[in-house]
Amino acid sequence: MRTQVAIIGAGPAGLLLSHLLHLKGIESVVLETRTREDIESTIRAGVLEQGTMDILNETGVGERMKREGALHHGIELAFGGRRHRIDLTELTGKAITVYAQHEVIKDLVAARLAAQGQLLFGVSGTSIEGVETSKPRVRFMHEGEQHTLEADFIAGCDGFHGVSRPAIPESKRQDYQRIYPFGWFGVLVEAPPSSDELIYAQHDRGFVLISTRSPTVQRMYFQCDPKDSVDNWSDDRIWNEFHTRLENGDGWRVKEGKIFQKGIIGMRSFVSTPMQHGRLFLAGDAAHIVPPTGAKGLNLAVGDVKRLAQGIEDFYRSASEEGLASYTEQALKRIWRAEYFSWWMTSMLHTFDDASPFQRQIQRAELENVVNSRALSTALAENYVGAF
Ligand code: FAD
Ligand code: DHB
Repeated sequence: MRTQVAIIGAGPAGLLLSHLLHLKGIESVVLETRTREDIESTIRAGVLEQGTMDILNETGVGERMKREGALHHGIELAFGGRRHRIDLTELTGKAITVYAQHEVIKDLVAARLAAQGQLLFGVSGTSIEGVETSKPRVRFMHEGEQHTLEADFIAGCDGFHGVSRPAIPESKRQDYQRIYPFGWFGVLVEAPPSSDELIYAQHDRGFVLISTRSPTVQRMYFQCDPKDSVDNWSDDRIWNEFHTRLENGDGWRVKEGKIFQKGIIGMRSFVSTPMQHGRLFLAGDAAHIVPPTGAKGLNLAVGDVKRLAQGIEDFYRSASEEGLASYTEQALKRIWRAEYFSWWMTSMLHTFDDASPFQRQIQRAELENVVNSRALSTALAENYVGAF
């Protein structure tokens, strides 16, 4: 088997890269360990930056997002029993769309299949060889048979636990990491929206995020012990926690409904550099992770593959390796800003058990500063919509 670009992983990074390359007349094969049903139903992120919306629209896969996604012009920060609106559009001229990651996945899979793109689901034993030569290869099992896929380039889009990053020798890599002492308990609820906009709430008992999926399904999270088990959380206990942490002076209450999905995610900041080794390029979670508070994970993956697709196109069009050679440096500029923003939002909004009374007061003062200063609100809004 031979192709121009072998893509490992059918997450947002791998699928969008394959789609962008196809539009530039470059052939790829996408290898995915999970089934199509699995990738199309795994619940993950929900916020698309303007730049992500733009690229989906411009490349013909934004139709359903425009129809079914919800355009949001602001978010709210809640603390001390009050809610404060950050007007994203007034401050930046941009907006965000709330549209679930697995819906983006469905749209990209449909587009690749409609264009006769090669997507192989259920592969196993993926291994990478020869990346320091001009003929890199991926070996894998598919439908009981061993295959070798030869390519000009390999794109490692296989997420944090994939095989691509470990294929770069440790001696050539530098990893930066911070693991947070808390996680998010996420629920999906059958209920009408509790709020027109997303609410990021700080409370002594821990952070809460109120998000949405549709007029009838809501997405909500609360800060929890990352080692806790969903079995410890009855629906009643979950609602009590939401109501307590969202207590406020104006009588507003989160709307209850049937909880039909529960899960706990850990939180870390992580960057591995370089994002290239020979003919192997990393994109998305394979190279970096952000805590979800800034809603950046999926958007960073999109930013990476946009840049990578351009570098690969330059290589085929004009035999220029410049774009590819500067991929790590260019991508990292945006990645570190998003790492900073996600760390900042996480630090400002979560409860750290070991924080001193002084640190708790400073945290509150920082929130007061952000909502009362147009300059600080603008900085938050610019980072949130990705306006740079
Ligand atoms: P992924 O989406 O992880 O895709 C990688 C793909 O590669 C997967 O489909 C995997 O099955 C496949 N794969 C792995 N190993 C191999 C292999 N060896 N061979 C072939 N295929 C392989 N971000 C937010 O902003 N907000 C959120 O609320 C949020 N929630 C999240 C919840 C969870 C449980 C997780 C894990 C992430 C969450 N994120 C969130 C982050 C966001 O979803 C990711 O940043 C985004 O999915 C990155 O896309 P990706 O394509 O780089 O990686
Ligand atoms: C969602 C997730 C996030 O991490 C975030 O910051 C905002 C919204 C969501 O799943 O809707």
